[in-house]
Amino acid sequence: MKLKLKLKLIVVLLFSISHLISVSSWKKEEFRSCNETPFCKRARSRTPHHSNLIASDVTIRDGDLTAKLITPTPIDGNHNSSSNSSSDSSSPPLILSLSVYQGGILRMKIDEDPSHNPPKKRFQVPDVILPDFEISKKIWLQRYSTDAGSGSSSFVVYLSDGYEAVVSNDPFEVFVRERGGGGRRVLSFNSHGLFDFEKLRKKEEGEEWEERFRSHTDSRPFGPQSISFDVSFHGADFVYGIPEHATSLALKPTKGPGIESEPYRLFNLDVFEYLAESPFGLYGSIPFMLSHGSAHGTSGFFWLNAAEMQIDVLGSGWDDAGEDANQEKRKRIDTVWMSEAGIVDAFFFIGPEPKDVVKQYASVTGTSAMPQLFATGYHQCRWNYRDEEDVKNVDAKFDQHDIPYDVLWLDIEHTDGKRYFTWDRALFPNPEEMQKDLASRGRRMVTIVDPHIKRDDKYHIHKEASENGYYVKDASGDKDYDGWCWPGSSSYIDMVNPEIRSWWADKFAYTEYVGSTPSLYIWNDMNEPSVFNGPEVTMPRDAIHYGNIEHRELHNAYGYYFHMATSEGLLKREGGKDRPFVLSRAIFPGTQRYGTVWTGDNTAEWEQLRVSVPMILTLGITGITFSGADVGGFFGNPDTELLVRWYQVAAYLPFFRGHAHHDTKRREPWLFGEHNTELMRDAIRVRYTFLPYFYTLFREANVTGVPVARPLWMEFPHDEATFNNDEAFMVGNGLLVQGVYTQHAKEVTVCLPRDHTWYDLKTGTAYKGGRAQKMEVTDADIPVFQRSGTIIPRKDRFRRSTVQMENDPYTLVIAVDSSGGAEGEVYIDDGKSYEFQKGGYIHRRFIFSDGKLISVNLNVASSSSSSQGTSFYSDCTIERIILLGYSSSSKPPKSARIEPTNRVADIELGPLQIRSGVRSAVLTIRKPNVRVSDDWTIKLL
Ligand code: GLC
Repeated sequence: MKLKLKLKLIVVLLFSISHLISVSSWKKEEFRSCNETPFCKRARSRTPHHSNLIASDVTIRDGDLTAKLITPTPIDGNHNSSSNSSSDSSSPPLILSLSVYQGGILRMKIDEDPSHNPPKKRFQVPDVILPDFEISKKIWLQRYSTDAGSGSSSFVVYLSDGYEAVVSNDPFEVFVRERGGGGRRVLSFNSHGLFDFEKLRKKEEGEEWEERFRSHTDSRPFGPQSISFDVSFHGADFVYGIPEHATSLALKPTKGPGIESEPYRLFNLDVFEYLAESPFGLYGSIPFMLSHGSAHGTSGFFWLNAAEMQIDVLGSGWDDAGEDANQEKRKRIDTVWMSEAGIVDAFFFIGPEPKDVVKQYASVTGTSAMPQLFATGYHQCRWNYRDEEDVKNVDAKFDQHDIPYDVLWLDIEHTDGKRYFTWDRALFPNPEEMQKDLASRGRRMVTIVDPHIKRDDKYHIHKEASENGYYVKDASGDKDYDGWCWPGSSSYIDMVNPEIRSWWADKFAYTEYVGSTPSLYIWNDMNEPSVFNGPEVTMPRDAIHYGNIEHRELHNAYGYYFHMATSEGLLKREGGKDRPFVLSRAIFPGTQRYGTVWTGDNTAEWEQLRVSVPMILTLGITGITFSGADVGGFFGNPDTELLVRWYQVAAYLPFFRGHAHHDTKRREPWLFGEHNTELMRDAIRVRYTFLPYFYTLFREANVTGVPVARPLWMEFPHDEATFNNDEAFMVGNGLLVQGVYTQHAKEVTVCLPRDHTWYDLKTGTAYKGGRAQKMEVTDADIPVFQRSGTIIPRKDRFRRSTVQMENDPYTLVIAVDSSGGAEGEVYIDDGKSYEFQKGGYIHRRFIFSDGKLISVNLNVASSSSSSQGTSFYSDCTIERIILLGYSSSSKPPKSARIEPTNRVADIELGPLQIRSGVRSAVLTIRKPNVRVSDDWTIKLL
């Protein structure tokens, strides 16, 4: 072997060993800072009014308002252009187009003018925006009006009854404002003149386009092509969103007087032992920011772009503005967005309520897929469950300890040498039987399938992929890119090509994935993509994809296309009948349509438990509701108290999975003594009792985009005390969960939102909202409250998995408000198929008022006689109705009459929760035994 090759192998080996062991914490120097990233450094150093563009030739074309963005020839020859930028007077114009969509959504595209033959077409991200949005939601503009405001003219188009969009021509600026009256601004673009667009061009003599970072050279054959601009959120107290970062819910300023921080980076990376507080980019990127404040409410801005992005949130006084300006600024947050490549394809969302903004965003990128019911239960994972024996034991122990769970996971070691779709037959000789055995107790299995393919000619996936030319190419454009990952030398499937995605999807057929059965689902990891010997542990930016797209242009979307292809594979496998389950680490806008995500390799530390909450809430408000963090922390060994607290918090978060690195000690819930087993069992059981509520909320997310786990301000947008609270969160509109994030906590401060009464879930005690209160905590659980005015469906019997709960009766918990009323819903379907899309579901609204509870049918399809759809029926009954805060003007009710049967049920004091050691007693209607699918009324007597 040649010496050079040997050396290379040793380096690579050392690298992957260090990856495997991963003993040290985050290696800062492995990743580029903004200063080491030339486009970011250039953009960050620009001062306000850098741009001197004007919008000319404004016209309506094909239903859009279009304009040319040009640089006026300087009269005094003294403009502030740089030779690379759009401000160069000799450079061709840019083309701007503004389109309007239903819901008052404004879309703005800015790209090079094709009639000037730029060296290549810039990349526009395909397959993210819903076809329905582009085609049927578009409002064809017929006209614009002009507005000669302050000197220069503006062109105004109608957005909705309350809002309009304005393009000012000189200087160029776009904003959305309220119609009529004061015309208050909501969002504005380029108000600070920081817009810059580096047009593709020929290399100048002596110019150096290559970029070096550590031992890597990026050839950058197309030179500078970055875009940056400022966006202002008016009337905002805080901005949120732009995952994925381990940081607070309300984003902290990154630049301004006294603030020195990196911008928030959006660049999908495999980061070891990430810090619990950092603007550094993690595994996923969603360039969607929301603002919220008492002045306007909520607004949002989304830039569909898959290249590296960096975003600054500017602190007060960043532009040296004087006193007056600061006055106005207090109600405005300015941000700067910088991307290495692509085009401007930006969406402005007007809100004004928080849920309006998430719905507007969901109308563009889609709502989250409806999960199968099993996926909402508890998942048990570890790197790795060793062999079939281990699997059998772990499964049996859950039953022995009466702990419910639904899914057992297998990590990379189950494969034959990290060749995905294969099994290590020494360890897993009978994978089908193993899965069937689990399935006989209603349990599923998940195996891992990563995008790096072992370069082994005997491996069928590699053989087909290389023969068909399905791999991403290196910078030369004709050799398969060869990087290092778990299997050693690997190549990467080029998932941006729909034909390749379809080929990949076929690999999940039972005949292809030998050893798989219908109860097997998939985990996609390392899809940033992770490349151990690549720059910043990823693929070189000059690698080439299908259609001559440079990796730099689509990097952040690579994992998304991989997730999409896998999800389509599971769909195909079942002939389109069953809903796929695919967990992905890398994320991009639209991921919510294809599956679930988790927050990657966190650490067993209290601060990581704390930050998992804002991370998951942030994913929720940016479209991805089905997310969770590794319970217990992936790296390291959690102390028992941390592990228990982690279960207690995570039980209320959408995706609930325990997972751990292979170097950690085993930590299944029964390994920490009887008392701790009981605590973890309780936490998991509570999750299972709330599954009817969670499932109803997943359906709400599937229809509207409103997430399951919500920041408090989403439910209480006028209560300023909630805007910056990321320690507590809402599950739907009914439950408030206060995490406990410190060791040996004896009490926690809970800020219950004002104007509501809150009922402690364990004791039924009522608390008035509106002030911070110290509450005692024990190790038994964390504080959770039901809001007055809500009705929550539960299933309180203890079972071993969701399958066993199917026919169990329901409990309804009614927490009445000050007027004695409450409302809630339950959604039920077969938990598996797509029949619900044809009307095969039960959806009920429960309304309680004047001592009367009625059940109203919300399934329009089933109630219309002309319906051609399917129907879904359930024999499940309601076995208990618990009343919290109910007081009648006369004496307490003793019984309840059920109509239409006229039967009478007893009312007595019963337990609030059937849980170990809980002894509270609350007003309970015993055995009303009405069917959940029927119309009925229950009247307190
Ligand atoms: C990555 C994943 C982790 C997994 C490991 C081995 O580090 O984030 O969850 O266990 O790879 O596949």
